[in-house]
Amino acid sequence: MKLTKEEAGILAGEKGEVMARVMKTLVMYGETFGAEKMVPVTGASGHLVTSFGLSVMKPLYALMDTLIRAGVFSSQKFTVDPRPLDINVPVNLAQKIFFGIMYSKQAAYEEQLRRLGLVNDDGFTCTCYMGEVGNIPQKGDVLSWAESSAVVYANSVLGARCNRNSGIIELFGSIAGRVPCFGLLTDEGRRAAWIIEVRTKQKPEAQLLGSAVGMKVMEAVPFIRGLDQWIGRDLNRNTEAGRAAADYLKDMGAAAASNGAVGLYHVENLTPEAKALCSRLILKKAPVYVIDDAELERVKRNYPCIWKDPAAEPKLCFVGCPHLSLDQLKAWTAGVLSGLERTGRRKLSPVTVFTAAPAVLKEFRRLPEAEKLRKAGAVVSDICPLMYMNNPLCGKMPVITNSNKLRTYTSSRYYTDDEIIAIITGSGGTGSAAEVER
Ligand code: F3S
Repeated sequence: MKLTKEEAGILAGEKGEVMARVMKTLVMYGETFGAEKMVPVTGASGHLVTSFGLSVMKPLYALMDTLIRAGVFSSQKFTVDPRPLDINVPVNLAQKIFFGIMYSKQAAYEEQLRRLGLVNDDGFTCTCYMGEVGNIPQKGDVLSWAESSAVVYANSVLGARCNRNSGIIELFGSIAGRVPCFGLLTDEGRRAAWIIEVRTKQKPEAQLLGSAVGMKVMEAVPFIRGLDQWIGRDLNRNTEAGRAAADYLKDMGAAAASNGAVGLYHVENLTPEAKALCSRLILKKAPVYVIDDAELERVKRNYPCIWKDPAAEPKLCFVGCPHLSLDQLKAWTAGVLSGLERTGRRKLSPVTVFTAAPAVLKEFRRLPEAEKLRKAGAVVSDICPLMYMNNPLCGKMPVITNSNKLRTYTSSRYYTDDEIIAIITGSGGTGSAAEVER
């Protein structure tokens, strides 16, 4: 890799041994992927994926201490992925004790994050790009992020440039203020190797469409045609239609990033680069994958159910992975209330947890919808459902979700948004998951 004089000086130890090791790690990382140079990080803020104080991650805490002792801080303030715990989310006694042990380093780790450059105590969310949170990259910004759902959103919807980095590498990029230039940072790496033709007769479920795309193209860049007829051509978060389209792409992208390894997609007539470059973005001989209603049904039918008892009544429901926007929280409240009205029930069953960024929840709690949702027995939380689920005790619970990312990484069972409403309000029958299963 060709380094500038300044970068070579840092590598040689001009800014101390710890900083030299940070630079060496970035150089080795870049050379592994064929990068020829570094480029400056330009986004306003960084974002870290490692938000959880797992007791077993001792090397991480030692590393953070080394950075702090050496005064090697991030050149950017940063937000962080959601916390793993929230006392509002129901747990039984065994789970409470287990969580206490499993995340015993949470408070100490958050103190390390604060010292290294955490933006504020509300900075824990995977949707850091929401207006209420304020970590919003601009088109063309170069980022050093790792959270897959945030990376794919920043690349695709906002037109920023970021590779799918790993945890800690992204912190090192923020500290050094530069990242190796390869892959999705380059014009060539952002061209589409697949064409997706959406030919459904109804608006495709975002989380299902993303799943189908991700499983087909894996880490390649897809160019999606035919989606603008369902979600429009506006991505401006100042308009209701623009916010709805951006929220749709948030969920679709997270599913594509987790069911496959998509870091960037283009949507014809909608996303910034597709609007600017149209089909010039598509590589020659890119194969075509047609997605119609039957294909989405096939994809959904093939999800395995790994519950011990597939006919079990669900014990908990998670909605909001990735975290919900304010509009989505309002829409879910409306759906919940009208479902309950239809059935004459007063409370949701199972208990349903709606997750969103702390700053989004602050806004939501000012609205009358918040009290109505609470009275319906729902919980709102800024937790990461995946962190809650990923342990032997919670992993055994029959949990349902509308998140294809959560389905992929845990034992939770996926349902569409409408099916979730039907189950939790009982408006689809008795409310048992088995009944709603097609
Ligand atoms: Fe966000 Fe946790 Fe899901 S980080 S995307 S809520 S797995």
